[in-house]
Amino acid sequence: MDRDTVSWDEETGSIEFIDQTLLPGEFRVVRSDDIEELAAAIRRLAIRGAPALGVAGAFGVALAVHRSAASNLPDLRQEASRAANLLKMTRPTAVNLAWGIDRVLSRVMAASSIGEAQDAAVREAAAIAAEDVDLCRAIGAHGAALLPETCTVLTHCNAGALACVQWGTALGVIRSALASGKEVSVIACETRPLLQGSRLTAWELAHEGIDVRVIPDSAAAHLMRKGEIDAVVVGADRVTRDAVFNKIGTYMHAVCARHHSIPFYVAAPYSTIDAASAEDDVVIELRSREELAWCGDRQVLPEGVGALNYAFDATPLDLVTAVITERGVFRPPLTLEAMGGAQRII
Ligand code: MRU
Repeated sequence: MDRDTVSWDEETGSIEFIDQTLLPGEFRVVRSDDIEELAAAIRRLAIRGAPALGVAGAFGVALAVHRSAASNLPDLRQEASRAANLLKMTRPTAVNLAWGIDRVLSRVMAASSIGEAQDAAVREAAAIAAEDVDLCRAIGAHGAALLPETCTVLTHCNAGALACVQWGTALGVIRSALASGKEVSVIACETRPLLQGSRLTAWELAHEGIDVRVIPDSAAAHLMRKGEIDAVVVGADRVTRDAVFNKIGTYMHAVCARHHSIPFYVAAPYSTIDAASAEDDVVIELRSREELAWCGDRQVLPEGVGALNYAFDATPLDLVTAVITERGVFRPPLTLEAMGGAQRII
């Protein structure tokens, strides 16, 4: 992709982001200098995907501090905390959001003047964005080695450049494999109900000339049974000590992949690992009925019928062949110790 998904505009002191709700029809970059507006953009999935949420949250706190009219440090810190809380409440499942916010907030709290806090906040957020690019490349390199020379990879949702700053995690593995000379074609599950697979994954891969075909989510098992899928590679919103949280539907792919002896890989940065938590500690975002009731302008749910619109599901770690991180590939048993003792307390 030619530009970062989320970035800081030094000249205007504002955040720029690609409005992903408009893709694939329109590619629009939006500028915002308003924290409420940023929170709303996250809620409506204009910015989405765990690593991109971490970067957006980080820039969000930096924005609040940068724009603050506070005349003393305690007031500035209070404003930063308010912004942090507002942003954290937008989406509960992706751990990277709170992680990015807390990294910047701690720099603000440690500063000894308003100028220093403003400077440190923007620098820390920019560092998180720059690190994300590097670690996606590293994830890609580690993951590429796992794929056969010629293969078809199934992926779910969008764990690509749009979900990060550039390159992507699951799609980063595919990009790196292609760059190393492997022949990879991609099956993208459309990812009901918000269609991140068909709208975003297909868009960003096709844009680069990568071979991609979209299937309804319900076709995945059929293709696995026919022997048309060589590997599944997905991203993650949170990896606890017992489960991988990712877009709803991921779990059924993992079950089917196990049944058909197809490797099931999870590609995620270390910041997605929440080893302090177990599956039951995690709140799975429940989104509105409206997202299921409408298909564009067409009503597809009868009036008065309820919906259960969970945005994510949990895949037990024992269904995962390996977790691919920037620090290397971890295979079961995926214990805390085996993964290098990652800790996150939020
Ligand atoms: O609801 P979304 O679009 O934010 O969900 C995104 C996913 O589930 C991704 O697979 C996950 O965040 C990993 S992105 C590298």
